[in-house]
Amino acid sequence: MAGLIVKNLYKNFNINNKEILALNNINLYIEDGSFVTIVGKSGCGKTTLLRIICSLEKQTCGEIEFTSDNKEEDISRRVGIVFQEPRLMPWLTVEQNMAFPLLKNKNKEETYYIVHKYLEMLGLESFKDAYPSQISGGMAQRVSLGRTLCYDPEIILMDEPLGALDAFNRRKLQNEFINIFIENKKTVIFVTHDVEEAIYLGQKVVVMDDGKVSSEISVPLEYYRDTTDLRFLKLREDILHLFLK
Ligand SMILES: Nc1ncnc2c1ncn2[C@@H]1O[C@H](COP(=O)(O)OP(=O)(O)OP(=O)(O)O)[C@@H](O)[C@H]1O
Ligand SMILES: [Mg+2]
Repeated sequence: MAGLIVKNLYKNFNINNKEILALNNINLYIEDGSFVTIVGKSGCGKTTLLRIICSLEKQTCGEIEFTSDNKEEDISRRVGIVFQEPRLMPWLTVEQNMAFPLLKNKNKEETYYIVHKYLEMLGLESFKDAYPSQISGGMAQRVSLGRTLCYDPEIILMDEPLGALDAFNRRKLQNEFINIFIENKKTVIFVTHDVEEAIYLGQKVVVMDDGKVSSEISVPLEYYRDTTDLRFLKLREDILHLFLK
C-alpha cells in the first residue's frame, strides 16, 4: 500500500501576464489505504492539486513524497486518475477501451483476464461489446473507472467523477467506490463540489478554499453511512458553515 505527503506545494499560473496563485502552500498527509475526499468551491485548486500528484502538471515549488512499504518500487508511476468526464475512445468497445492501455505492457491473454475481472466487478459484462455512444453516462463513468483499476494503481485520484450523473446513479456508484476501496485496499483521493458526497465517502474530508487547505475533518462513521444520521447532518452543517465565513 502507498500514501503520500504534500509539502509546501505552490502553483502559479500566468494568464495574459496576470499571476494566479492556484495552490498556496498546501500541506497534506494522505495515509496508506485511506479514502480522503477534497471539497471546495469552483476554482479553489482541486484539479490542479490532483494533476500535480499524478505528474500531469509541474508544481512551481514544494514536494510530493510517496510513502510505501515497497521501497523498490517507484510509486509515482502507480497513480491512476479518473476524470470528470469518461474520456473513452468512441471507436473502441467497452472491453477494448479498458484493455488498450494494458496491451502496451502485457500480452493479450493476461490483459483480457484482468479486463474481465473488472467488467464483472462493475456489472459491465453484458455491455462489453457496446461502443461508448451506446451506453449511458453512468456506465461510461464505470468503464472509465474500470480502465483505471485495470492498471492496478496503488493510489487512485478521482476528479468529480460523478458530477454529471443523476442522484440515483450517483448513490449507486458511490457505493461501488466504497466496495472497491474496501475490497482492493487502495488509497483514494476523491474531489467533489458536493459536501454530502464528501462526507458519505471520505474517512477524512479536506476542505480547500482559494488555493489553501482550510480544514481537515475526520469522519468517524462506518460505511455505508446513513445521510440522515444526526452525526452525519452535524458534520454537513459544520462543513457548510466553513464556506459561509
Ligand atoms: N492550465 C491553466 N492555465 C492557467 N490557469 C489555470 C490553469 N489550470 C487552472 N488554472 C487556474 O487555477 C485556478 C484553480 O483551477 P482548478 O482547475 O484547479 O480549480 P478547481 O478547484 O478544480 O475548480 P472546479 O471545481 O471548477 O473544477 C483557477 O483560477 C484556474 O483559472
Ligand atoms: Mg476541477
